[in-house]
Amino acid sequence: MTKSKLLLLTILGLVTTAVFGQEFTPNYDESKIPDYTLPNALVFEDGTPVNSVEQWDARRKEILHLFEKEMYGIMPGWEGGVHAETVYQNDTAMAGQATVKEVKLTLKYQRRELEMYLLLHIPNSRKNAPLFLGYNFYGNHTTTHDPKVHLTRSWVNNNIDFNITENKANESTRGVRIKRWPYQEIIARGYAVGTIYYGEVDPDFDDNFRNGVHALLKQPSDSSSWASVAAWAWGLSRAMDYLETDEKIDPDRIAVLGHSRLGKAAVWAGATDERFAMVISNNSGCGGAAISRRQYGETVWRINNRFPHWFTPNFSKYNEKEHLLPFDQHQLLALIAPRPLYVASATDDQWADPKGEFLSAVEATKVYRFLGLTGLPAAEMPKPESPVIHGTIAYHIRTGKHDITLYDWQQYMNFADRFWGAW
Ligand code: GCU
Repeated sequence: MTKSKLLLLTILGLVTTAVFGQEFTPNYDESKIPDYTLPNALVFEDGTPVNSVEQWDARRKEILHLFEKEMYGIMPGWEGGVHAETVYQNDTAMAGQATVKEVKLTLKYQRRELEMYLLLHIPNSRKNAPLFLGYNFYGNHTTTHDPKVHLTRSWVNNNIDFNITENKANESTRGVRIKRWPYQEIIARGYAVGTIYYGEVDPDFDDNFRNGVHALLKQPSDSSSWASVAAWAWGLSRAMDYLETDEKIDPDRIAVLGHSRLGKAAVWAGATDERFAMVISNNSGCGGAAISRRQYGETVWRINNRFPHWFTPNFSKYNEKEHLLPFDQHQLLALIAPRPLYVASATDDQWADPKGEFLSAVEATKVYRFLGLTGLPAAEMPKPESPVIHGTIAYHIRTGKHDITLYDWQQYMNFADRFWGAW
């Protein structure tokens, strides 16, 4: 490990020591990882092995239900419609190469409403474009310099670098996140891309679920109620409801993707909604792709204490008791099978446990193989910038920090080309 990397990890460690008055020092030492045995995705809870594809379907439901009950919370069904109104459209964006439009999606339930804005960039060169769908962290306007894209009115995380105070979006943040959304490159490769500000679906703070979709649906709460990660995943499904009706998009070729906490939401959306034909986890870490039992970097205790609103109350039972979890995150990845899945890590993102993310994909491979697919064709962790993309599960680790970069996007598009044809 280089000196600068060590320094970074130390700073990260210091920053994360005090949570609610309790000390937390992340473990970054492989030799200190506790011994663990991963629950087998191919054995039912009663010990019966899975012997056929039909049995896997039943086991899949069993695993899904355990994740709902113990971790993400049970999502309510949705019978209401999604009312779509295009509030802005430019058919000749990017020198005529793309159509940019923003669609206001209104979800109505009883007499309540929730609005979320879906910003779409669609290539003009193609009918039925495949699409990448993912949330952004600070508002659609931060992903573009286009002055017509709306400024979110929802609660936003404060950010000193972006001069966001009082949890309100402001004009000066227009375009501050364009690096994470390389629209030009995506359009040039024939893909459409859609994004929504995640806080419009559920503001990311602990308010006992009084706002966002929780307030819309007003579910009674108990120990397995849905929490924020599930709420964000649910919002992606509502965007999917709309996308199925947009004639410029191919609803059978929609990849759901997300970075970090939004990667957790993307994987859960992929697990719960099989309309997503491909799933991409970018640095999703603890509560996403990384194996919880490794307790490397962020742990179940730390995530539950720092972000008490992300997971269902039941999940706290496993604080410092990961060995009692009836599942681990490799089984979450296995729920994506047989659909293509991409897991990506970054070298300086030890907090998210890159090795744990990789091992999770390796373990999920057992289910893919059971279904006659390759899964991830790599037993050893590849070197940085050496993506393994020739299987049904892809993996890469990129040099650099916790982020989603053009390099990451390029690999996702290379992977998607394999299944959906290069343009
Ligand atoms: C924190 C959190 C992570 C999360 C990340 C992010 O670091 O501990 O679990 O993934 O924020 O969303 O950027």
